Amino acid sequence: MEFDEKKLTRRKLIIGAGTFAAGAALLSAGAQNLISKAEAKETALPWPYEKLDPNEVAEAAYNEWYKLYCGAAVISSIFTPLKKKFGEPYASFPVDSFIWMHGGVAGWGTMCGTEIGATLAANMIAGQGVFKDGEKIANEVIQWYCDTELPTYAPKNPKISAKLPMSKSGSPLCHVSVGKWMKVADKGFWSPERKDRCARLTANIAAHTVKLLNDWKDGKFKSDLKIPAMTYNITAQHDCTDCHGGKVPEINTKGNPAK
Ligand code: HEC
Repeated sequence: MEFDEKKLTRRKLIIGAGTFAAGAALLSAGAQNLISKAEAKETALPWPYEKLDPNEVAEAAYNEWYKLYCGAAVISSIFTPLKKKFGEPYASFPVDSFIWMHGGVAGWGTMCGTEIGATLAANMIAGQGVFKDGEKIANEVIQWYCDTELPTYAPKNPKISAKLPMSKSGSPLCHVSVGKWMKVADKGFWSPERKDRCARLTANIAAHTVKLLNDWKDGKFKSDLKIPAMTYNITAQHDCTDCHGGKVPEINTKGNPAK
């Protein structure tokens, strides 16, 4: 009997609490509406930016790679100092939900995660949409990734003390970039050297992105680089012959506005 009574009391308490919570929710619905409108304004893109030190960003990106891998490390290295400067909306940004960018998206060797992370940050800060400044910055970063012997970044406390070789990917693809480096370095994918190479490359890309964002903030960013889709009338990267050899297929331009 005593047991049953207790049960009843507990039940009543739970129901009571539920009713109270529902009432409170109803009462505050109006206030919540106001809050969510203010929040919506606060999180509307583009997000605020103040110039960052590329060296500090690079060092953070290098260290973050060992927790978040390439893409999320680039985002973290840029958004963490901005969180310190601005608080929201950066404070609520779930950086670690972008770990999947690793290995060219979940190990599929497509776009290197550093470029995806850089593109995300540049778009959220400098404006998104077809060939808005954010996309122009991304375009420049991707081209630089393809054209530059990497990694050049020397970490303060390197996990690998030996000098690491550099390589030029000629491609935005993780698969091509990592593969060419593995060949030059004569190291396997699971080696600590390959990992440190990717961590250093992540530092390079994060720093380069911030350099361009700093220029943009100063009103000095300019880019004449076309996006490949505009050049070729097909989404593409520039190294056609890398994959197609001498026989690059003809592009179907039916229905294009300018043939
Ligand atoms: C990363 C590798 C890669 C690169 C770089 C690449 N392609 Fe392709 N492309 C392919 C593959 C794979 C296919 C599908 C199979 C095929 O046709 O070879 C394809 C298909 C095509 C097609 C469709 C028609 C067809 O015959 O399959 C065209 C057109 C094309 N590519 C043009 C280009 C051009 C132009 C470039 C450079 C601006 C380029 N590609 C760069 C891999 C690539």
